[in-house]
Amino acid sequence: MTLDLRYYPDEVLRAVAEPVTAIDDDLRALVPELFAKMYATRGVGLAAPQVGISRRIIVSNQTGDPEQKQFEEVYLNPRIVDQEGAVRGEEGCLSLPGIVGRILRSQKVTVTYLDLEGNEQTVTAEEWKARIFQHEIDHIDGILILDKMSPAELAFYKKEIEELEDPDAAPEDRPVSEHSSAAL
Ligand code: CO
Repeated sequence: MTLDLRYYPDEVLRAVAEPVTAIDDDLRALVPELFAKMYATRGVGLAAPQVGISRRIIVSNQTGDPEQKQFEEVYLNPRIVDQEGAVRGEEGCLSLPGIVGRILRSQKVTVTYLDLEGNEQTVTAEEWKARIFQHEIDHIDGILILDKMSPAELAFYKKEIEELEDPDAAPEDRPVSEHSSAAL
């Protein structure tokens, strides 16, 4: 299976993804591919639509370190059921290379999801991990950081956005610099 990262303005990134209805071999085979793609692009989170699969599947490793498998997490049909606080912080997106927004997010979220065994789980996350959840759940709802950036930020990144929108200038997988915020 070869998964290609999809970039804005790919339509799959704007679709509301379909729920997972069966945890089958195809899904179990897909999960390691999602992690591989996430690590290859130096991400800390990846939503299935970012590789062209319009399903409500998210993987994350908040460390971004493939050696730290204990941080690997898979969330099927994740849904934010409670949230509190508000904090603005830097966010990059693998589907929007070169662009970093200062995005307002809830400080704390409670998420329900199905795990790979089909069990319903609930988790509460704060700060960075809460931000990952909100970014990736936005992806499965067809929402991008562009939608949450200020007019000034959008103006600042006008050139990068126009390059992405140019059909003759398809971006290559570009890891985000170690020194900028990690991408999601
Ligand atoms: Co993203």
